[in-house]
Amino acid sequence: MTTSHTDFTGFAGKRLQLGVTGSVSAFRAVDIMRRLQRADVLVGVTLTAAAQEFIRPLQFRSLTPGPVYEGLFDSNQAEYAHLEPAQNAHLFLVAPSTANTLAKHACGIGDDLLSSQLFSFKGPIIHAPAMNPRIWSSSAVQANVSKLMERGVGIVSPETGVMACGETGEGRLADVEEIFLYALKGLMPQSLAGIRFLVNLGPTREYWDPVRVVTNDSSGTMGAAIALAAWLHGAEVSVVQGPTPHLWLPRFMPTTNVASARQMHQACLDLATGMDIICLTAAVSDYRPTVVQLNKAKKSTLGERVSLDLEQNPDILADIGRTRKDSQYIIGFAAETDDILHHAQRKLHEKRLDLIVANSLARSDSGFGTATNQVHVISRCGRRESWPILAKTEVAMRIIEWFLDHSA
Ligand code: CTP
Repeated sequence: MTTSHTDFTGFAGKRLQLGVTGSVSAFRAVDIMRRLQRADVLVGVTLTAAAQEFIRPLQFRSLTPGPVYEGLFDSNQAEYAHLEPAQNAHLFLVAPSTANTLAKHACGIGDDLLSSQLFSFKGPIIHAPAMNPRIWSSSAVQANVSKLMERGVGIVSPETGVMACGETGEGRLADVEEIFLYALKGLMPQSLAGIRFLVNLGPTREYWDPVRVVTNDSSGTMGAAIALAAWLHGAEVSVVQGPTPHLWLPRFMPTTNVASARQMHQACLDLATGMDIICLTAAVSDYRPTVVQLNKAKKSTLGERVSLDLEQNPDILADIGRTRKDSQYIIGFAAETDDILHHAQRKLHEKRLDLIVANSLARSDSGFGTATNQVHVISRCGRRESWPILAKTEVAMRIIEWFLDHSA
């Protein structure tokens, strides 16, 4: 699975307190901490007594410069440990969170250090529960979860799968990557709250018989990074995804899967009218075979040379531009091998866009299948910038910031 589209960084100066409770998945808290550290987040840790049966505090202490707390009356720690995260952390994440810790937080019980720290914490709090499926679905746990959500506490719902105890159901700790993204969102200003944001991504596939296909090398990474950057800023994001089987997308991202350009066209146009921002990054096949064979064409019939007759596919972006509302903000991409700015400028006007992001396919570290991109951005009102080679996640963040700075 490809995950370079989740490699958001630049959270230096942000501090997160990670609560770890007594679950067989407690060891995964180390992965969560390491993942956050890769994004430059400073992590403090609080382990309950039950968590310490599964994982040693030293494991965390060896890996983070942040404070690691073991208990209310631990003589090695600050006198006011129950208040310290409230003073210094920007987000409290409890992962994994047991039924017991959820219940204490919901009902206002503070009988250990973690529950006491949660009491005094006024910033955003997120729980990632993990427990047996029958416990998770019990009315008591569900009532506590509802109560917490009503108070604005975030819940990263558990996954369905085979549990450590051998049972199958909903209760496994969510994917580390998904918990990481929820935590980043909790650390970001929600500047796009209430904004509906459509992204399409990936290649399209145009079959000329059941096994042979016209397509391209797009990995969907740039589009996925933009979808996630918009979600991190609070937007309600919808994705129309061309065939990108190796691209991991989180469960919270509503996704329509399509294969051909015509399917992508239909899906995007159906969604477009309800959107505030539309960003089309997909490498749509401009042409499709005129004739599609029902059965696999045989070499004995085709002979040594084959010519494919191709016809043009609809241009999704041009059709959205043609029917757009003035209030919508439309972003297109331009993939070019030469004369980048000239072609990008023409597409900006012809497709009636607000912004075009042009990237070079002539460099090996930019364009299809890379984790980095070198782009030029040109806006409808003539503003133009060339950005250095950057991680696609950084390009995505800059595009969102461009919209926030220049769209008014
Ligand atoms: N696009 C689209 N539908 C198509 C072709 C392109 O929506 N059938 C969109 C792409 O998603 C991108 C923009 O149009 O946002 C520009 O795509 P690009 O491939 O760079 O250019 P084309 O418009 O296809 O023109 P050309 O192939 O002549 O460069």
